[in-house]
Amino acid sequence: MPQWDQLWIDVNIATMNADNEQPYGAIHQAAIAVKDGKIAWVGKQDELPEFDALDTPIYKGHGKWITPSLIDAHTHLVFAGSRANEFEQRLNGVSYEEIARQGGGIISTVNATRQASEAELFELGRKRLNALAKEGVTTVEIKSGYGLDLDTETKMLKVARELGKHHHVDVQTTFLGAHAIPPEYKNKENGADEYVDYIINDMLPQVAKQELADAVDVFCESIAFNLEQTEKVLTAAKQHGLKIKLHSEQLTNQGGSELAAKLGALSVDHIEYLDESGVKAIAESGTCATVLPGAFYFLRETQLPPIELLRKHNVPMVVASDFNPGSSPLCSTLLMLNMACTLFKLTPEEALKGTTTNAAKALGIDDKVGSIEVGKQADFCLWDIQSPAELSYSYGVNPCLQVVKAGQLISM
Ligand code: NIG
Ligand code: FE
Repeated sequence: MPQWDQLWIDVNIATMNADNEQPYGAIHQAAIAVKDGKIAWVGKQDELPEFDALDTPIYKGHGKWITPSLIDAHTHLVFAGSRANEFEQRLNGVSYEEIARQGGGIISTVNATRQASEAELFELGRKRLNALAKEGVTTVEIKSGYGLDLDTETKMLKVARELGKHHHVDVQTTFLGAHAIPPEYKNKENGADEYVDYIINDMLPQVAKQELADAVDVFCESIAFNLEQTEKVLTAAKQHGLKIKLHSEQLTNQGGSELAAKLGALSVDHIEYLDESGVKAIAESGTCATVLPGAFYFLRETQLPPIELLRKHNVPMVVASDFNPGSSPLCSTLLMLNMACTLFKLTPEEALKGTTTNAAKALGIDDKVGSIEVGKQADFCLWDIQSPAELSYSYGVNPCLQVVKAGQLISM
């Protein structure tokens, strides 16, 4: 007779398991059992094997829905300061690029983050992580990139790692030293190239040695790093055994996604300006396409990401918040589900896939999390909804009833 730690009955389950051909991989009138932090059994309730009913705590779901808990695969949630003043500037007609060129934008957050202590950054990050956690997020990727010097970049990554240790949410960290050209290098003749050398020779080896990052990212853009500089950083990252990702085709098409595909990146992110040859390249390399509707919305972008082409070439689509102070100060993964559907016309099923299975793929952790399958970590949520589409349909009244992380019921 199986021994389980907990059992949920009278639920409907959107497993998001690709092997289940039902929409959302759904199992109706289902049950799910957990043992040692993992999913031990999932299926139709009337097919439950005999189990030790006296010794197993049983939760009744009253016909509500369980899904894998959410994964936000692209955030910049460790930072100090606010950019509300730039928001006002933009509303008075100054563009995001113009603000960046004038030394504002990312650099203004760099100045605030350099001055902040680890404890201050931790406290700011903790509140933001709590906001995501309340909406059923149990895995978050956090990027550095508001330090642009060794001390501050490592400070940010340490804070991100500490957040993961002290919070039930798992944190995947990404080193984004190549986010912008720091003020110290800005006015030098070959400043960007020199800074790239500094990243490769000084920062990356430290980040790798101290095991501060799971992945490395670069902002490949006209206002940031060109293709050649991007390739150098990503190649060096791979030599340190780190996974790679890319901010690409956000404002212009620099060919970043094709490069990312060639180097075997896990994901390319933003991609409003991605064209069909780029889509084909990432389709072939198995690179995920992360759409960030918060940044699209907040920057009042009009160029839509090539969703039809991504579908045509079967590219796994990921939906993330990109939570950051400049382009997406929107700390809500659930809001992104709604925006991905309304702004980009993803189906609610595609949007949910983008914050579960495909999000796990974009972080290289899909063997462990992202779907409800026997043997995977028991990370799931019980929602007060009548159908999984409601997660994308409505926003503002948080429907999250229960969060289970590695088999533990989390109280928040
Ligand atoms: O993902 N595109 C580059 N980086 C961030 C924005 C950073 C900022 O404006 O502070 C993004 O949108
Ligand atoms: Fe970003």
